Amino acid sequence: MTEYEFKTLNPMRFMEIVQEREKCFAEASGGLEGNKWQSNELAKLLHPGDRNMVVSKVIEHSRDCRSFILTMEDQTQKPAFFSAGQYVCVRLDINGNILSRPYSISSSPKESLAGYYRISVKKYNQGLATEYIYNNWKEGSIVKVSEPMGFFTYEPLRDSKNIIGVAGGMGITPLLSMAKAICEGTQRHKLTILYGCSGEHAAVFKDELEEICSRTSDVQVRYVYGNITVDDIVNARCSFCDAEDVSVFVCGPGGLYQYIESQSEQILDKLNIEEYKKHKYIRFESFAESRKTCGEMPEYVNFTVKIRDKVMNFKARTDVTILRSLEENAVPALSGCRGGQCGYCRSKLLSGDVYIPEKTDGRRLADSKYSYLHPCCSFPITDIELEVPSIK
Ligand code: FES
Repeated sequence: MTEYEFKTLNPMRFMEIVQEREKCFAEASGGLEGNKWQSNELAKLLHPGDRNMVVSKVIEHSRDCRSFILTMEDQTQKPAFFSAGQYVCVRLDINGNILSRPYSISSSPKESLAGYYRISVKKYNQGLATEYIYNNWKEGSIVKVSEPMGFFTYEPLRDSKNIIGVAGGMGITPLLSMAKAICEGTQRHKLTILYGCSGEHAAVFKDELEEICSRTSDVQVRYVYGNITVDDIVNARCSFCDAEDVSVFVCGPGGLYQYIESQSEQILDKLNIEEYKKHKYIRFESFAESRKTCGEMPEYVNFTVKIRDKVMNFKARTDVTILRSLEENAVPALSGCRGGQCGYCRSKLLSGDVYIPEKTDGRRLADSKYSYLHPCCSFPITDIELEVPSIK
């Protein structure tokens, strides 16, 4: 362990967790049930893989924003429990093209125990998946949904108990789930949300957020009509009276992500956070697709894909991700976060060169050494040959 990692740990915080765990152990039922290991059963409940769910209710928030309440198709089962801030991927079969899109869960973990998830979808121009969902998902539709995924969650050992949540547009959804979890008592920390949107009319979930704020003083919401600035973030710190440190959680469109990244030095400085703690204290979630930012390239390259014993050839654009080209050419490719972090789309580059923006390159060292890449954030720069894992 490097010295700087050690410095970010707070052993006293661990002691608090020990007490909470002891309480849980004392309250839990002991022993084996029949001859099943409870830990195995628990793992299956938490990681059930893809499952069919039913759209039980559609809630219209505005002309271009809807929420969907999803319950289990098999009513003897419950949705997997999740941590506030996680997302699920919906699997869509659009005329034979298999697409997968991540949506943060906007309901609370406690509500999953009551039997449902809520996901909220904004309709974007030219958004193939949202267009499909808007036209096809009705009450009673059966949809395929992954288990909860993602690491945009509060971790008591790592994060400060004072969190500034920076949300742009629909980036409010994971923070709303966190706010609910605090209000319901399943998460214990403070949260001040900076909600950036174009105006009051665009502040989806305003009523829900106000209701939460009226029930707990641990959640506050500040609306920013326009772009969120460094000063907005720094001023939000005042909401925690005796804050020794704060964590910043950012979720929103690519523009917000880039702005915070470009201003991170200033933000760290003004919040008195040392540079080496940046990765601990500023956390991002962005489902925005990567954009190519390297120099002049040919417009198209030849793309050969191997998937099991099948080989496909087509022309691929160099200004969109490899994953996008796979989807546009009806190659059934696995994906999760679409941002280079989850590893679901991991594929092997057999030949050719690609460009991977440094900020979205979440590969392990061994993977980069042995030519594995994440198609969701890689761009071809020469003709390429790729081996893609098949969807089961
Ligand atoms: S989809 Fe998550 S790393 Fe590619």
